[in-house]
Amino acid sequence: MSEFHNIAVIPGDLNGMTVTEATLKVSEALNHLLTKPIKHTRFDYNADYFLKNNLKELGEKELSELKKFDQIYLGAIGDPVKIKPGILEVGILLKLRQAFDQYVNLRPVVLPDGVESILKGKTSKDINFEICRENSEGLYVDAGWIEKKGTEEEAGYQIMKCTYKGIKRLAEYAVERGKLRKKNIKPIIHFVFKTNVLIYSGSPWQRVFDEYKKRTDIEARYMHIDNFLMQMLLNPAQFDVVVTENMFGDIATDAGAVIQGGIGSAVSGNINPTKTFPSMFEPIHGTAPDKWYEVDKTGALIPGTFVKEKVQEIKPEAAFLSYAMMLELMGEKKAADALKEAALTNIRDANYKTMKLDELIEKACAYLKKCK
Ligand code: IPM
Ligand code: MN
Repeated sequence: MSEFHNIAVIPGDLNGMTVTEATLKVSEALNHLLTKPIKHTRFDYNADYFLKNNLKELGEKELSELKKFDQIYLGAIGDPVKIKPGILEVGILLKLRQAFDQYVNLRPVVLPDGVESILKGKTSKDINFEICRENSEGLYVDAGWIEKKGTEEEAGYQIMKCTYKGIKRLAEYAVERGKLRKKNIKPIIHFVFKTNVLIYSGSPWQRVFDEYKKRTDIEARYMHIDNFLMQMLLNPAQFDVVVTENMFGDIATDAGAVIQGGIGSAVSGNINPTKTFPSMFEPIHGTAPDKWYEVDKTGALIPGTFVKEKVQEIKPEAAFLSYAMMLELMGEKKAADALKEAALTNIRDANYKTMKLDELIEKACAYLKKCK
């Protein structure tokens, strides 16, 4: 076993770089809480890297580099002024999720104590569940075709591939999470799909659900995605762990992020539970190009318009919290809890909205140094 936790760090672009730098600073203040030290190795896989190397996606070279690490920590990627949106998202994010078989996208929807939700009257008691988004197949398998392009009859088809094995391994992970979370003596696992319409890809979902329904160690329930989104807002307390298809999960977790205190504190773990490849942790928020570039009359971004001082307005807490999720899943519970609390202490500060980046970093470091 290595004497270090070996972490690959991909800062990415714009806000991604800023929040990663902040996180690396803060991580130095928690060394004393670790069971073994962390070694960070940076990889500048971002818009500039893609342009310089004329890439459309990460290739064998980059994958074999990253493969050697225990975990990957990612800031955020995307710089629409340099590269058309979509290329980096698919070429880095989706590529890594697939190549490293990170088949669970773990996204907690947990409203912390003392943080307000936009759902009136809901507290941390009501909003406390986790979404396990299927992260390797579903509607995101990049398969489909276009017919009669450019004509009046143009039609685009996109394939939603759902496999029995894929859903089952996801559900298995969800059960483990449920047992760890201990929200209910018997974990409640919600299967969320749209079996009333999507009858082909719904077939394996139904089959896995029927199997899990027979289990006595958990309680399996089923909900259609449209109803689930509504229930998330009306009665979130009923949920414990939710499993759902890739795109449904993508959509639901943005709504989840908003009700658990905002996108500024929502985190995402791309997990390979078998540990054959590294897992990858990232804040849900993106690179915020609208803050880095001004727009002209037509709505197009103007290159080079970011004012250096604006960096101080960026909030790093979601990045801290995703680093904390990584620490937790690495078995560094003490450091993880401390970092989580440091981030939440910032968020709970009455002056949080106007606090500057350096101040937030300093405050988090000071908090961590005091932890034993
Ligand atoms: C997310 C993002 C990505 C996704 C995009 C950027 C490819 O929206 O992590 O939720 O759709 O998974
Ligand atoms: Mn998304």
